[in-house]
Amino acid sequence: MMEDYNIFVITRALHVIGVVFWIGGVAFVTTVLIPSLKNNADHNNRWELFEQLEGRFGKQAKLATLLTGISGYYMLDLMGAWGRYLQLQYWWVHLMTFIWVIFTLVLFVLEPWFLHSWFKKQANKDSDQAFSLLHRFHIILLTLSLLAVAGAVGGSHGYMF
Ligand code: HEM
Repeated sequence: MMEDYNIFVITRALHVIGVVFWIGGVAFVTTVLIPSLKNNADHNNRWELFEQLEGRFGKQAKLATLLTGISGYYMLDLMGAWGRYLQLQYWWVHLMTFIWVIFTLVLFVLEPWFLHSWFKKQANKDSDQAFSLLHRFHIILLTLSLLAVAGAVGGSHGYMF
């Protein structure tokens, strides 16, 4: 029993490490990288710069997403808490899962499939508009992610929503 609890605590620590690395990176890209590129960089090479910088983060984000997802599902299993998906008060479990699904889809499926080339084309056509759209997507995802973090910390530590 005690051993199970220790495994749970270690899994939760890994989960939070994944979240910090991943959502922290999203926060940096959203609040520092994209605004700087939007305001300062030369229109002709800013897309290439963005690709280089976010491309590096993309690999790390994939690993962090895997770590967060595996540890999250493992915790649900350890706690026998799959039923939470059927209870509205666990909206923060739904939100965590929703964020995870969106990022997993974008990073592993949509980006390599068409999103990357579509954005590149948009950036060549109208760079300002492409960066505004990119920024808006990032702001929405960051806001939802932070809401999930707040809900998850509150919910896991006994706050009754
Ligand atoms: C498939 C995706 C995910 C699953 C299945 C999942 C599952 C879980 C579970 C079971 C817990 C422990 C709850 C408890 O102790 O009662 C937890 C905690 C937490 N999760 Fe997730 N999670 C997922 C994705 C995410 C994402 C994407 C984020 C961030 C945006 C996140 C942030 C957190 C945080 C901050 C905690 C609270 C840690 C604490 O304060 O103890 N999780 N998650």
